Amino acid sequence: MSLIKTKSLCKTFKIRKLTIPAVENLEIQIEQSDFFALVGESGSGKSTVIRLLLKLITPDSGEILFKGKNIWNLEKDDLKTFYKSIGVVFQDPYASLNPRLKVFSIVEEPLRIHEKLSKEEAELKIKKIFSELGLDEDLINRYPHQLSGGQRQRVAIARALILNPDILMADEPLSALDISLQSSILNQLIEIRKKRNLSIFLITHDLNVVRAVSNRIGVMHLGRIVEEASTEEIFKNPLHPYTSLLLRSIPGFHRKSRKKIPKLTTETKNAWFLKGCRFYTRCDKRMPICNENVPQLKNMNGRKVRCFLY
Ligand SMILES: Nc1ncnc2c1ncn2[C@@H]1O[C@H](COP(=O)(O)OP(=O)(O)OP(=O)(O)O)[C@@H](O)[C@H]1O
Ligand code: SF4
Ligand SMILES: [Mg+2]
Repeated sequence: MSLIKTKSLCKTFKIRKLTIPAVENLEIQIEQSDFFALVGESGSGKSTVIRLLLKLITPDSGEILFKGKNIWNLEKDDLKTFYKSIGVVFQDPYASLNPRLKVFSIVEEPLRIHEKLSKEEAELKIKKIFSELGLDEDLINRYPHQLSGGQRQRVAIARALILNPDILMADEPLSALDISLQSSILNQLIEIRKKRNLSIFLITHDLNVVRAVSNRIGVMHLGRIVEEASTEEIFKNPLHPYTSLLLRSIPGFHRKSRKKIPKLTTETKNAWFLKGCRFYTRCDKRMPICNENVPQLKNMNGRKVRCFLY
């Protein structure tokens, strides 16, 4: 049974007179111990997906199953298990760490809510996760503002992992940090994932960040998943023109074949309302049919692509 599975999940937002289909017929599946990365440019709907999966917003239609159960029909005990099974990290650790609490209280809080542990037992757990994340034990007596950016985000991750969840969901958790810090934290997460059989659902706009760490990638473009495949397949043989564009825009990638790095332009509001493929105006392979009909997500030998070229 999948850890998380969505069925035709839809969410629209009304902005003045416009209705934006921020998430349209989303079908994703995250298995136990998967490292699934959801990638796409700003405004493609990634954060809306994570907010839906966390039950922070209500979908317009569709289902979200957690271990086979619809998260909107969970009874009290199952709901508690649901929240305990998911650790969450957001982009801005300043916003997620209570500035008035010391690091110890911040990381201990989920334990207080979900587990009845003595102070010594809690301290032992906190020290263990701190050592796995390369955090100095002495930091437990500091306040968030006394930490560096990297330390703050590690503390946020420690808090998210303290209950030993099944899955860590993270929305751009590292994008404010420099590249070397990003890769050191990602490597620690890989180790923790192996040890604890942890699944990771990571949102990022940067394909390069997840290249060495994720095992599956979903590429999202204006509310629709346009391609989903193993990380290896995405990098070796991207099928969707949008995935190719994202890859070509990584500096240093495909150096020989690339004439220049294409600049990623952001979509105009109009692209949301194109009758067919929403990538039509930016696609160098577009055909007349692409502007007439909506391409469907097709299964192709274990991978999926939404494009009339296939
Ligand atoms: N609460 C909201 N009210 C109105 N529109 C919203 C709301 N949340 C998101 N949107 C719109 O939905 C679309 C998807 O937004 P979302 O934040 O999910 O994108 P994203 O991929 O996370 O972008 P970013 O990389 O910039 O974080 C955008 O057009 C956004 O303006
Ligand atoms: S459906 Fe057509 S416009 Fe859209 S990505 Fe494929 S080729 Fe390009
Ligand atoms: Mg976002």
